[in-house]
Amino acid sequence: MKASILADRDFAIGDIDPRLFGAFIEHLGRCVYGGIFEPGHPTADENGFRKDVLDLVKELGPTIMRYPGGNFVSGYNWEDGVGPVEERPTRLDLAWFTTEPNTFGTNEFIDWCRAAEVEPMLAVNLGTRGADAARSLVEYCNHPGGTALSDLRREHGWEKPHGVKFWCLGNEMDGPWQMESKTATEYGRVAYEAAKMMRWIDPKIELAACGSSGRNMPTFGKWEDEVLEHTFDQVGFISLHTYLNNYAKDTPAFLASPDLMDAFIDEVVAIADAVAAKRRSPKRIALSFDEWNVWYRTRRNRQERVKEGWPVAPPILEEIYTMEDALVFGGACISLLNHADRVKCACLAQLVNVIAPIMTETGGPAWRQTIFYPFAQMSRYGRGRSLRTSIKSPSYSASYFDPRGPQDLYYPVPSVPYLKASVVANDDGGLTVFALNRHLTEPLSLDLEVRGFGDLGLAAAETLHHRDLSAVNDKENPDRIKPDRFDDVTVSSSRIEMTLPPASWTVCHFARPK
Ligand code: AHR
Repeated sequence: MKASILADRDFAIGDIDPRLFGAFIEHLGRCVYGGIFEPGHPTADENGFRKDVLDLVKELGPTIMRYPGGNFVSGYNWEDGVGPVEERPTRLDLAWFTTEPNTFGTNEFIDWCRAAEVEPMLAVNLGTRGADAARSLVEYCNHPGGTALSDLRREHGWEKPHGVKFWCLGNEMDGPWQMESKTATEYGRVAYEAAKMMRWIDPKIELAACGSSGRNMPTFGKWEDEVLEHTFDQVGFISLHTYLNNYAKDTPAFLASPDLMDAFIDEVVAIADAVAAKRRSPKRIALSFDEWNVWYRTRRNRQERVKEGWPVAPPILEEIYTMEDALVFGGACISLLNHADRVKCACLAQLVNVIAPIMTETGGPAWRQTIFYPFAQMSRYGRGRSLRTSIKSPSYSASYFDPRGPQDLYYPVPSVPYLKASVVANDDGGLTVFALNRHLTEPLSLDLEVRGFGDLGLAAAETLHHRDLSAVNDKENPDRIKPDRFDDVTVSSSRIEMTLPPASWTVCHFARPK
């Protein structure tokens, strides 16, 4: 099988915002407790932060971290998570039917972000709370001092303002599973008022309004339109969420599913631009893809989602990722890179234990899941400008099953190129190719012509593939799946040739000679 790519350094999709490489920490299962935070763990520092997890987070390379939810935020009183730990209340969490001890809260999260070298992103509760609680949290976090709330932060031990720049106006407010979910009109109004007051307190903040919680929601499209009609002047971003699945046990369709992320992005861009057009406005709303991943095994099964008896930090949503998942995940990375002009922020959901690239044993070790690798490579090599590509590849057709929403839906994907790829012109003058071969049995011989780069030499090349698509990493075999060095690549002047193994994800970085 043969495919080709033509790219030119001068023909760019757009600059890649480093915030495209974000992730997400929710008070959910063992993401916080037993994940990033475990006082008493052999590697824990004086704050209770697991050092083994911090090391893996640094290797993964996220740039921004969303917190504290997710569904959790829609019932969260931020005041419960600040101040002396022994005085903090224990509460029932109705998002995940657990008991929340509140021994980790906003200030601990900010400290953790500093230790992990990531930018914090906070979500406010627009479910059970509203604009008043949202503006109070901004004042607590970002106002320097001299007011009751900012001085409270200082009393709590954080003298300097946190300077949190990126804020989410609630979470998935269209979903009936959300505490105090809303119609688009109800949400649009409260989001507008919250945004207005939050920006009065700190005009430098950037805000994301909730888009639909999935492309298959019955209100998708109308929701974005109405929410943006209300919030257009106050927000810079609209959010998107997608969890890819293989319920249907149809691997080719699963591998095609990232192409539906492309469609979703294009549709949200069209709606946002239609709202701008109605105002004759040059403003362009950016997209915050602030939840994305593969997730299905632990999603619809109540046993995996809810543990009875209101436990603290139960092991829920602990999806174990296969080689097949890593390929689909890599396809999703390519979709994000190929929309760098409008997707200016994205968060892998989530970071540790809960649908996560990093797994831990409470009291024990931490290890990398299969999906760790495409993310780490994207964050490392995806810096710069995403280039337009002209791709020629044989294709197949698929029908992707997505059961979320009121009815089970099949989405036709009439033409799925076996090759899905992204080309990035890196800041160092080099170039990186991200390539997914979706053919399950045939190698793909790929011919690339890259114009405008001058002489290039191969600097690093890795491929992720395994004969068994169901293979996973676990505590006993943490390195069963990991990238191998990729040798099947040659470069001469502006021509690059490589042969991609069947069912593989490959990353090749080329550098200018020194
Ligand atoms: O990431 C897990 C959950 O998925 C989040 O809490 C919610 O926003 C989404 O439905």
